[in-house]
Amino acid sequence: MSNNEQALISEADRRAKNYLAATTERRVFPDTETIAALDIFKETLPEKPQDALATLDMLDEYGSPATVVSNGSRYFGFVIGANLPIAAAADRLAQSWDQCASSHVNSPAAAAIEKAATGFVLEALDLPRDAAIGFGTSATACGLSCLAIARRELLLRQGWDFDRDGLIGAPEIKVVVSQLTHITVIKALRILGFGVSKIQYAPVDKHGRIDPVRLPKLDECTILCLQAGEVNTGEFDPFIPLIDTAHKAGAWVHVDGAFGLWARASKTLRHLTEGVEGADSWTTDGHKWLNTPYDSAMAICRNAAAMAATMNADAVYSNAEPDAQKNLTLEFSRKPRGISIWAALRTLGKEGLDEMITRHHNQALRLAEGLRGAGIEVLNRVVLNQVLARLDDDALTLELVKRVQDSGKIWFGGTRWNDRAGFRLSVSSWRTEDADIETAIDEITTHYEGLR
Ligand SMILES: Cc1ncc(COP(=O)(O)O)c(C=O)c1O
Repeated sequence: MSNNEQALISEADRRAKNYLAATTERRVFPDTETIAALDIFKETLPEKPQDALATLDMLDEYGSPATVVSNGSRYFGFVIGANLPIAAAADRLAQSWDQCASSHVNSPAAAAIEKAATGFVLEALDLPRDAAIGFGTSATACGLSCLAIARRELLLRQGWDFDRDGLIGAPEIKVVVSQLTHITVIKALRILGFGVSKIQYAPVDKHGRIDPVRLPKLDECTILCLQAGEVNTGEFDPFIPLIDTAHKAGAWVHVDGAFGLWARASKTLRHLTEGVEGADSWTTDGHKWLNTPYDSAMAICRNAAAMAATMNADAVYSNAEPDAQKNLTLEFSRKPRGISIWAALRTLGKEGLDEMITRHHNQALRLAEGLRGAGIEVLNRVVLNQVLARLDDDALTLELVKRVQDSGKIWFGGTRWNDRAGFRLSVSSWRTEDADIETAIDEITTHYEGLR
């Protein structure tokens, strides 16, 4: 049995390098044969130890070809960034450290670097510099944390001790969300016990932004959830009037900015986020538009003490400072996710970040122009990096999406918009060059003409 650590790591590195080198040649989505070959993983747990190199070989031989090349330049599905080289490299090194990044005592290095990452993120997003950040797995998990903090804090203001007395008999905390809020916000609310039937929906205008005039009534027992970057259109709620109304009523404002919050880092796009800094909490992802590896998200809370109190996990054997990550995130033991965020931001700098975000916006504009040129209806204004389109006929729209996906050259997904089939393209990968955008336009145009 080969279990030599150095040999295994070197072999994994060699295979990883080969994988990345072949990124441009791979189909963006694997073909059916390659997917069928994944059946090899349906084996039973071996009784006896296996050769470790053989395990690695199986992973590479059958796993690598069946991956979706979302880490490439021609993947426009969902909102999925690629992995910046420095983010991947920093993650790679940190993996070999294998730190439990709960607190300073678990890992001085991780604690110090995640504090540095906190400072960088707050500066890049221009949010209150004394806000706290918990580096969590996803916008879903981080949103859940923020909503839990919001509820606890609103109840505290009503003189109710949530930690001690729970929810039974507590003043009711209402939630108002956009009619187009992301499903993961609803999921978080459902898990937290808000009750989906009790959620109030704020009507949106024709662009998909909450209409301040039709905002349901808010009070000091309300959480208002806003959006920076609607998942289909990339649109932003009008933060200035909404946050002003909410705060006058004593409500808490949470902003889901899973990808859109990064518009703040672009001088061209920053105006879209005007006023968002006035909210009480925000969530965003690194693994979408910042192009860091997966499992890198941020729960950001203006009231650092409220966050630390809600998320605290001190124990007799494990006491830590209030801003230790185990006291800011859902996890007790965790990997130091903030490291790749720190590395990406330090390496890009403000200018590099601005350039990447602005470039994606310009590429999305070109994509929309190309689709319109082909006679395809673009449904959104393309304020950000999202392009939403459809054909005259729903069945044709679905067929177009299928044909493009089957081509393996580019990939994007379908959606529903105003009860009609549509498709959406997101430009989020640092690897995407202008030539990739032209490839996408040509590919879509060719299949569209074939369909007509
Ligand atoms: C607007 C928005 N919010 C939240 C999420 C959930 O993010 P995550 O996948 O990191 O949980 C997404 C994911 O696509 C999103 O686009």
